[in-house]
Amino acid sequence: MDRKGFLMTASLAAFSISAFGNVKRIENQYKGDCVTTNDILGPFYRPGAPTRYDLTYEELSGSIIELKGRVFNSDCVTPRQNALVEIWHCNTYGEYDNKSKDFNQRAKWFTNENGEYAFKTILPGKYLNGNLYRPAHIHYRVTEKNSKELISQIYFKDDPYIAEDPWASQKKAEFRILPIILEDIKGNLTVNFDIFLKDK
Ligand SMILES: [Fe+2]
Repeated sequence: MDRKGFLMTASLAAFSISAFGNVKRIENQYKGDCVTTNDILGPFYRPGAPTRYDLTYEELSGSIIELKGRVFNSDCVTPRQNALVEIWHCNTYGEYDNKSKDFNQRAKWFTNENGEYAFKTILPGKYLNGNLYRPAHIHYRVTEKNSKELISQIYFKDDPYIAEDPWASQKKAEFRILPIILEDIKGNLTVNFDIFLKDK
């Protein structure tokens, strides 16, 4: 293996440890603490959001991102098909749509046979929680018939409001603070969030 190949392998190995925590390989299966940690539901969940990929619309302002990932069971490698992934977040101005029939910045999606889901939306703004702004975040609720319900949130790397936030600053949130990735030559932004559900 040349030096470049070695460096790539080494960095991928480091990534797999940092992304999944203490994962051990046991008879071709990975067992470990990959299970995605929970977070608070918050006051703004609304059931009944539409099934859709695209949450953007003409007059929406904000940086568009593709938010995507895969849902796995707690062996860390087996995809969960038909997991219901619900997301909700505020708009650029820190406002949730708590009333309209459009369910703005709210959606659900069912994972395919590879466990994949994806949404096109914007990076959320920030809103006050008491005297402190919460860091930008997207709420998740994931349900699947063989798994325990997951209620969680994702945050974004280098957000200066994470350190002061009572939830984002917790140790258990560390693998939910995600980089915003320049996906391609056109400058499209993506955020990847793989979800590991706890088996029932
Ligand atoms: Fe929120």
